[in-house]
Amino acid sequence: MSDLAHFDVAGKRVFLRCDLNVPLKDGVIKDDGRIKASLPTIQALLEKGASLIIAAHLGRPKGEAKPELSLAPVAKRLGELLGKEIIFLGAVVGDVVSNAAAALKPGQILLLENIRFSGAETSKEESERAEFAAELAKLADAYVGDGFGAVHRKHASVFDLPKLLPHVAGTLVAAEVEVLKKLTQNPERPYGVVLGGAKVSDKLGVIENLLGKVDVLAIGGGMVFTFLKAQGKEIGTSLVENEMLDVVKSLIESSKKNGVKLVLPTDIVVAPSFSADATPTLVSADAIPVDQMGLDIGPESAKAFAIEIEKCKTVFWNGPMGVFEFANFAAGTKTVATALTKVSGISVVGGGDSAAAVRALGFADSEFGYISTGGGASLEYLEGKELPGLQALGL
Ligand code: 3PG
Repeated sequence: MSDLAHFDVAGKRVFLRCDLNVPLKDGVIKDDGRIKASLPTIQALLEKGASLIIAAHLGRPKGEAKPELSLAPVAKRLGELLGKEIIFLGAVVGDVVSNAAAALKPGQILLLENIRFSGAETSKEESERAEFAAELAKLADAYVGDGFGAVHRKHASVFDLPKLLPHVAGTLVAAEVEVLKKLTQNPERPYGVVLGGAKVSDKLGVIENLLGKVDVLAIGGGMVFTFLKAQGKEIGTSLVENEMLDVVKSLIESSKKNGVKLVLPTDIVVAPSFSADATPTLVSADAIPVDQMGLDIGPESAKAFAIEIEKCKTVFWNGPMGVFEFANFAAGTKTVATALTKVSGISVVGGGDSAAAVRALGFADSEFGYISTGGGASLEYLEGKELPGLQALGL
């Protein structure tokens, strides 16, 4: 298999698929981690004498050109970080793009507008995607896949396009895959996984798969209330997926059968409503008042999670433990993040949201073993699924 170092791109136009899906608020980038993570491949390609046509998505515009999901702020930030001009024409395809791509000189960068403004990018119709990919292929001589966060998507620029051009994985995708291999092929033990976030249904596949592989599974975040309810506990007005209760009961059973230590919170920070200034109260996980909702794991639980995490030699964490965006409900996520920084083996923070959470809470990337740029992608990898974007790159 070829790698970027041996990929000859001197004087060529390279189509580079990145994941530049950054959190934005009122047009301001809240976390530029994914842009920064894309820089090494961009710089390596420029040093090799290529010109670049960069494609990326932002949000889920569903084939509509939504101004609030324009990549314009990303073009600006990328230009600042690279210290060079980014040609951004506000178009995905068309004559204006084809002409600009044809005129690119080595060292120049053209950033396409949000590739999902074209409905064909995400189409379920193979032929529609193939036609769009063929149009994109005309812009370039070669393809580099570096958008790890999107490799689980069977989308035109991720899956169909690489088949039409000489292709290779970028350094980010290669690094992500190497780390995920460490988690899946013979991980050093004890191996612990911490999962949070809102929904059990989003994480079901990965939980089922991990129950045969990990030593410890700690669960927090909004999804924990479905676990607590499945154990017969009162959960007040907390988030719950009632249709998942039976599935969760069988997950609890199978953790016992597999000898996996399932760690659930024993205390919860509750509040009467979902808001930053709602009054927090600490209660036992067995005594959540009927008119209150759980918004964070309590300090006793966070400490118990931290003790388990610090004992592990391999740890993967995805999903916040509480509503970390509200200061009153951020302590659980902070304690878990701190524990990850103390792991003596490999600690992996999985996911765009989790990565943004640790940065928002003031942690530096260097405090963790590895911060993955892909949430859904890393979870699907751990689930054991074949990821279309990796398959297309021969990985
Ligand atoms: C992500 O944010 O996880 C990636 O950019 C993929 O985005 P998607 O879930 O909208 O495909």
